[in-house]
Amino acid sequence: MTSTHAFWLAGRQATGDDTFDVTSPWDNRLVGTVAVPTDAQIEEAVAAAHAVRDEFAATPAHVRAAALDHVSRRLAERTEEIARLISAENGKPLKWARGEVGRAVSVFRFAAEEARRFNGGEAQRLDTDAGGTGRLALTRRFPRGTVLGIAPFNFPLNLCAHKIAPAIAAGAPIILKPAPATPLSGLVLGELLAETDLPAGSWSVLPVPNDRMPALVQDERLPVISFTGSDKVGYAIMDSVPRKHCTLELGGNGAAVVLADYASDQDLDWAATRIATFSNYQGGQSCISVQRVIADASVYDRLVPRIVAAVEAQTTGDPADDTTDVGPLVSEDAARRVEGWVDEAVRAGAQLLTGGKRDGASYAPTVLAEVPADSTLAQEEVFGPVLTLQRVDGEAAAFGTVNGSKYGLQAGVFTHDLQAAFRAHRALEVGGVIIGDVPSYRADQMPYGGVKQSGVGREGVRFAMEDYTYERVLVLTGLDL
Ligand code: SIN
Repeated sequence: MTSTHAFWLAGRQATGDDTFDVTSPWDNRLVGTVAVPTDAQIEEAVAAAHAVRDEFAATPAHVRAAALDHVSRRLAERTEEIARLISAENGKPLKWARGEVGRAVSVFRFAAEEARRFNGGEAQRLDTDAGGTGRLALTRRFPRGTVLGIAPFNFPLNLCAHKIAPAIAAGAPIILKPAPATPLSGLVLGELLAETDLPAGSWSVLPVPNDRMPALVQDERLPVISFTGSDKVGYAIMDSVPRKHCTLELGGNGAAVVLADYASDQDLDWAATRIATFSNYQGGQSCISVQRVIADASVYDRLVPRIVAAVEAQTTGDPADDTTDVGPLVSEDAARRVEGWVDEAVRAGAQLLTGGKRDGASYAPTVLAEVPADSTLAQEEVFGPVLTLQRVDGEAAAFGTVNGSKYGLQAGVFTHDLQAAFRAHRALEVGGVIIGDVPSYRADQMPYGGVKQSGVGREGVRFAMEDYTYERVLVLTGLDL
C-alpha cells in the first residue's frame, strides 16, 4: 500500500480530485499513486506565478543562489533513495540512476553559481557617433515571464532539474510538468524546493495529464515554453503558439564516426566499448544515445566484431540489481515499437548481428548492418537499444552520412587528428561534436540542443538562463564620459 503523492502548487503541497498510478516497467509493481491537479488548481498555480513574477525577478541573487545550493546539497544527501525511485519508476538501472542524481546535484550547483554571476550587466559607450555624445547604454537581462517546463520520462530527475534550476537562477517563475510515466522524481524536487525561502508562487510541480496540456500551452501568462520530448509533439506545441518563446530539445539519431586514423587495437577497443555502452544506456532511451556507427572502410571489419562482443557483454536484467547495464524500456508498448522497426528492417534486407528479441518491456541489445536507407530504423529516432553499422569511404563520406539525417543533435568522431576535429566541427550539422568519444557525452554546464528536426534553443544552465531572459537596454543621457 503506497500513500498518494501530493503535487506542489505555488510552493505548497496539494491534492486534487483524481489520482493515477505509476508502475515499474520491469515487474509492473505499483511504485506510487500521484494526485492530479484540478483545472482550478492549475489556474491557481498560473495566477500565483504571474502575480509573483516582478517580486521574483527582483529577489536578490544570494537568496536564489542559497535556495539552489540547498537543493543541490539535499539531492546529494538523498542520492541512494532518489536513485532507487528513478530506477523504480523509469526502469533505469540503478547505476545509471545514481549517475543521474549526481548530475542533478551539479545542475543545481551550477545554477547557484550562475545566479551569483549572471546579469552583471554590460556598459557600452554611445558617443562613437555625434548623436550619442554624453550617452551610455547599460544592458541587463530580464526574465521573459513564467516558464512552462515540460519534461520527458528518460531522465525524470535531471531533465526536470534542467528546467527548474535555470529558471530560479534567472528569477523567472516556473510551472513544471513532469512526464506522466515518471512524475515521482520531479515531485521530489518539489519537496526540496519547499524547504527553501523562495517566494510562494515562484515554482509549482504539476503532474498535468497530457490531454489537459493544450490549455496550459495556450495560456498567455506563460510566455516561455521549454519542452523536451519528441519532435512531433515539440513542433506541434511551437506551431500552436508561434508568438511564444519556445525551447525545444527533441530527438536525435546519434552518430559515432570512426575515422581511418583511429586504427590501433587500443583505439578500436575503446571505440567499441564506448559505442556498446552508450547505445544501450537507459535502454537507448536518450536523445544522444548511439544509434548509428559510421566507420571508415579501412577499420570497419576490425571494429564490427569488437562492437558485437561489447554489446553482447552488456548485462541485462533487473534495474534494481547493481550489476545490470540494460533494464527494460519505459513500457511494453515502447519495446513493441522497437521490435516492429527492427523486424521491418530485417524483412527489408538488414543483417541482424546480435539481439533482436523482446521479452515484455525489455528489448535485447541489438546490432544490425546493411540497414536499408529508407527503413524506419534508418530514418527515425529508435529510442531503444539498437545500433546500426555503416561502412563508408573516407571522411567526407562519413560526414555526409551523418548529415543525411533529418536530426542534428550531437555527433561523436573517433579521431586523433586535430585538423579532422576542426573539419568535423565545421561540417557536421549538429548542436555538438564530441571528439574521441560517442555523441552521448553531455556535461550539464555546456550548451546542449540541436538543429534541424532536433529542436531550437539551448539548455545547459547558463544557456537556458539566456533563453528564459531577454536583453533590456538602459540609455543614460547627459553624462560627462
Ligand atoms: C536527452 O535525452 O536529451 C538528454 C540526454 C542527457 O541529458 O544526457
